[in-house]
Amino acid sequence: MMKASAGLALWCAAALLLCIRADVRCAIRRLNSIDDLKEVNFGQAVPKHSLLLLHWFANTVEMDDSDVIRLTFDPDLGTYGSHHYGNYERLLNPLPRGDFRYRYYTVGNVNRGQSDLPDYVLEPPDAEYRERGNRGRIVFRVREQDGQTVDQVYLTQHYGNSHVTNTRYDPAYTYHITANLLRQIRAFAVGAQQRNFLAELAEDFGSHVDQSRLWRLTIRWQDLACLGLLLYMIVEEKHLKGKPLPPKRKLRPAPLPPKGKPGPAPPHCVVDIPDPAGSHGLDPRSWLGLRSRDCVRLEVTTGENGRARILWRGVPINHVMEGAMVVLYKDNNSQEAMFSKVIRSQWGDVDTSVRLNGGLQARLHKTKTKCCLWTTAAEEICRGAQFANPDKVPLSGHQASLQLFVKDGKACARLFVDKSFANWKKEFSKSWVAFYANPLKSTRDYEWWQWQWATKFQAAPDALDDVHDVYEYRSNLTVAPGIQARFILRNDTVLAETLSWQ
Ligand SMILES: *[C@@H]1O[C@H](CO)[C@@H](O)[C@H](O)[C@H]1NC(C)=O
Ligand SMILES: *[C@@H]1O[C@H](CO)[C@@H](O)[C@H](O)[C@H]1NC(C)=O
Ligand SMILES: *[C@@H]1O[C@H](CO)[C@@H](O)[C@H](O)[C@H]1NC(C)=O
Repeated sequence: MMKASAGLALWCAAALLLCIRADVRCAIRRLNSIDDLKEVNFGQAVPKHSLLLLHWFANTVEMDDSDVIRLTFDPDLGTYGSHHYGNYERLLNPLPRGDFRYRYYTVGNVNRGQSDLPDYVLEPPDAEYRERGNRGRIVFRVREQDGQTVDQVYLTQHYGNSHVTNTRYDPAYTYHITANLLRQIRAFAVGAQQRNFLAELAEDFGSHVDQSRLWRLTIRWQDLACLGLLLYMIVEEKHLKGKPLPPKRKLRPAPLPPKGKPGPAPPHCVVDIPDPAGSHGLDPRSWLGLRSRDCVRLEVTTGENGRARILWRGVPINHVMEGAMVVLYKDNNSQEAMFSKVIRSQWGDVDTSVRLNGGLQARLHKTKTKCCLWTTAAEEICRGAQFANPDKVPLSGHQASLQLFVKDGKACARLFVDKSFANWKKEFSKSWVAFYANPLKSTRDYEWWQWQWATKFQAAPDALDDVHDVYEYRSNLTVAPGIQARFILRNDTVLAETLSWQ
């Protein structure tokens, strides 16, 4: 034992020495693609804000077809807070001795008054991406040769909490950024024009992002939607990596149409006037595959803490001007409003106080003012689809299936057992159903206490099913995107896993 650890220590020392001998270069990881970026632990070891900085840098330099990178600002003038970087701690390759054409510079200090970085870098629409410790930096090497070309780019950061070392950069979190990666990031440039290609971009980079997420990204990030998509892919979506494209739910809006072809109109349009000339213009509706005018879309989705969120889109401006409100109902038959909010924009979303349940429906109403004091809902303009739970999935090799559903904002599971499967209680005597935070969790890594024996499921009170016996289990886990239920036959044999909650 002692011997082994001494050997290990020796080995480590040798490895360290080798590292130092090789100019510390071996410590620096190379990131050559967006997929490589997904391997970096953004949000924990590396501030998420560093991604904004990288996006800004990639879109601020110029690149030609042979990957020659040129600066568009003068770092010697301190533009964007940039300044010379001495590399005294030998973080990066030493500059060629005696060759004064090369210099390192650093940029990314976001301190007020010192930084003229654009607003979106300093104040991104999503607070998650704001800089907290002012640690992230881009270091680049400039070569003076017919103007200033950049031949090396690094993403780095100051040490975390240590007072002694925090003016230095942390080699453990320094990454060499290749021209190829910069080029990929440049595809996600900001701007209203760019936003029209959001769905195509997602497809090009292998993202499985669905239409309703794209829509939410657009609402939140507006003209920065492509940046929002990039961040989503790198920080959030990677946790769902390797999973097949989730099929669209039945009552959900139609999927994106293939490029160039006119898309189907969604099922709940008020007025459906076909679009005349093929407009691929700036109308945000076009990239979502909607081609008809005056077509309102209303949707109920999963908000914070298991509450319902209402999304609306494409509300004609005249309705907004004359007064309109979104109203939440229990279902398509209900006449009793559970929540309402006057809207002041054609697009938007609002978090309601209503716990999420299948069947919830958002409708758009005109407003009227009572006694010059309060605004209430008047005539209905249109309504969205009811909130639908995902479809059930079959248990492999058995006449039964499993469904994940929501009840009052909590994740629940329903077991459908074919009436012909009489001895299911015996067969499933050691079986259990558990809830997982996301599909990547291992079978044993279910959420704390969120599981139940299959035989202890209760008969479902409101099941109308002649073919199956229906049983259900209500967990106390708040439903959130990513959550999944699995049926475990015994030990680790998983018979079914549901799609993750959207
Ligand atoms: C919802 O209710 C409306 C009005 O009562 C009715 O016309 C429509 O068919 C219903 N839709 C569904 C899906 O039940
Ligand atoms: C869920 O239930 C378990 C067991 O009854 C309990 O230990 C846990 O605290 C509950 N969690 C919440 C969030 O209520
Ligand atoms: C499954 O569990 C049973 C009893 O709990 C045990 O005897 C058996 O060896 C386990 N099988 C596997 C494959 O782990």
